[in-house]
Amino acid sequence: MVRVAIMGATGVVGQEMLKTLEERHFPCASLNLLASHRSEGKKFPFRGRMIEVEILKKTSFKDVDIVLASAGSSISLEFAPYAVKAGAIVIDNTSAFRMKKDVPLVVPEVNPEDIKWHKGIIANPNCSTIQMVVVLKPIYDAVGIRRLVITTFQSVSGTGAEAIDELLTQTAEIMD
Ligand SMILES: NC(=O)c1ccc[n+]([C@@H]2O[C@H](COP(=O)([O-])OP(=O)(O)OC[C@H]3O[C@@H](n4cnc5c(N)ncnc54)[C@H](OP(=O)(O)O)[C@@H]3O)[C@@H](O)[C@H]2O)c1
Repeated sequence: MVRVAIMGATGVVGQEMLKTLEERHFPCASLNLLASHRSEGKKFPFRGRMIEVEILKKTSFKDVDIVLASAGSSISLEFAPYAVKAGAIVIDNTSAFRMKKDVPLVVPEVNPEDIKWHKGIIANPNCSTIQMVVVLKPIYDAVGIRRLVITTFQSVSGTGAEAIDELLTQTAEIMD
C-alpha cells in the first residue's frame, strides 16, 4: 500500500489523477489533496468518503510515499525538494524538471527502465508528447524513424481550469 499526495488536486489534471486512482483501484494507504489557500475547505469524494483539501506547505509531505505533482512549474520547483527531503518520490507532471539531466523523463510504455535511476523526482512529458511517443515507439523499434513533422492542436482544457471557465463565459456572451 502506498501513501499518496496530489499536489494541485483541485486542478484539471489533479482531478483526473484523483479519478484515475479510484478507477484503477490504486493501492492507496492514504491520500492527501494539496492545493492553494483558494481551495481551503473544499472536499472531494474518494472511495465513498469525502477528503478535505489541505493547503500546500513545506511540511505537507510527512508520511507520503508518492507525490503526483500538477500545480504548475513554479510550485513544483519550490516544493518538490521538500517532498524529496521528506523521503517521497515526486512524479512531476509540469515542465519544471523535464530538461534536467539528473531527472529521468519517463513514459511507462516507452522507457520504463529509466525510472531506476531517479533521485527522488521522475518527470513526464507534455500531454501531446506522451500519447504521440506511445504510438511512435513500436514504429521506431521496427524500422527506425529519421524525421518527424509534428503539428499539435492544443485544447483549451490544456491551459487549466481558469481557461475552461473563460471559454464558457466568452461563448455564452457571444451567443447572447
Ligand atoms: N491540463 C492539461 O491537459 C495538462 C496536461 C499536462 C500537464 N499539465 C500541467 O499540469 C499543471 C497543472 O495544470 P492544470 O491544467 O491542472 O492547471 P489548473 O486547472 O489551473 O490547476 C492548477 C492546480 O494547482 C494549484 N495551485 C496553483 N497555485 C498554487 C499554489 N500557490 N499553492 C498550491 N497549489 C497551487 C491549484 O489550486 P487552487 O485550485 O487552490 O488554485 C490547482 O489545484 C501545469 O503545470 C500544466 O502545464 C496540464
